[in-house]
Amino acid sequence: MNNFEFYNPVKVVFGKGTIARLSALIPEDAKVLFLYGGGSIHKNGVYQQVIAALDTFQVIEFSGIEANPEYDTCMDAVEVVKQEGISFILAVGGGSVVDAAKFISAAVYYEGEPWDILAKGGQIKQAMPIGAVMTLAATGSEMNERAVISRSSITEKLNFSSPLLFPQFAILDPEVTYSLPAKQVANGVVDSFIHVVEQYLTYPVNAKVQDSFAEGLMKVIVEEGRKVLKQPTDYDIRANLMWAATNALNGWIGQGVPQDWSSHRMGYALTAQFGLDHAQTLAVILPGVMWYMRKEKQEKILRMGEVVFHITEGSAEERILRTIEACETFFREMGLKTRLEEYEIEEKDLNDLAALVDRMGWKLSERGNIDSKAAREILALRL
Ligand code: NZQ
Ligand code: ZN
Repeated sequence: MNNFEFYNPVKVVFGKGTIARLSALIPEDAKVLFLYGGGSIHKNGVYQQVIAALDTFQVIEFSGIEANPEYDTCMDAVEVVKQEGISFILAVGGGSVVDAAKFISAAVYYEGEPWDILAKGGQIKQAMPIGAVMTLAATGSEMNERAVISRSSITEKLNFSSPLLFPQFAILDPEVTYSLPAKQVANGVVDSFIHVVEQYLTYPVNAKVQDSFAEGLMKVIVEEGRKVLKQPTDYDIRANLMWAATNALNGWIGQGVPQDWSSHRMGYALTAQFGLDHAQTLAVILPGVMWYMRKEKQEKILRMGEVVFHITEGSAEERILRTIEACETFFREMGLKTRLEEYEIEEKDLNDLAALVDRMGWKLSERGNIDSKAAREILALRL
């Protein structure tokens, strides 16, 4: 196991009816920016629950945060925060709204062009406190310090992180996820599964706690994921998926182990260029990464095959192939496409991705061996 320092200060409030706890979690004298997305919270009762819970607070609303939150929209919110003297940002929504809240909270105090936080690793010295009410189980953003922001005017989607960006609290009420469209449920299942994979499927460093925890999460996500589309209002399925998604990216399983994240980095580029949902990009790319890196990842792929998909027969080569197929089959069972041509993306479209990898100087994967040529090759495998 590698050395690590672990810090995660997020208070989690989990379960039915927990949105009512908001008033006890936000500082009494706070002026709150109530940040949300395109309006799903108006249809499922979450808006009313939040407004009721914030009864005694001064509240300013800011809606319209997009899926894949846009830099320009976030900058509009920064203006509101400054003009209104906001002191606390409450994000109510999925990962996009929470990520937007993180960016806004940093951009408010950033000296210089806030896009540099993303494009140039600009250092965050101060951030406004934020809290999260999660309505979609997927990203783990509610319990981590990272965020991803898009800027469609220049076709970019980039991520950043800072220990100052952990939410103060995360309210997770599985019942509010009942209203999600099947497509978003499936996206959440696949995204959280692949978060585990990015941190688990590398090379072994004898990190038994992290590996067992990661394997448990993958088993839960596959088992419950297979049920949730047929039983969308089963509380236990939703609760297990929601808590699994949080644990998949709250830092626990990634401590002291090598991490990959190449599928994510390449996926952001596909979203920026073609508008695919985040999880849609991952379902296409991951099988390609597994195949391209099958020698480097051999031991972990074999173990994942055995523990998660019960693949125990055949030669190592056969079991690796079957494990990759099992992942792809799972994504398709969830209703996601797994080939670029299904999104009408062709070989010539891969040049832009390769150019981005070069421009950013990325050497992706736990081995740093995926350069622009390899990235292109991996995506070409997925046409
Ligand atoms: O905007 P509204 O109307 O609220 O609708 C949203 C949105 O259209 C809808 N939705 C959310 N909760 C709902 C609901 N509809 C009905 N009922 C509910 N309870 O779902 C749509 C998608 O929401 P979004 O927040 O975009 O989804 P998700 O949570 O998957 O977040 C995706 C974003 O997070 C980033 C992704 O790249 C993407 O930009 N990620 C953030 C990470 C992080 N901060 O750690 C890690 C991830 O790997 C990921 O990259
Ligand atoms: Zn993700």
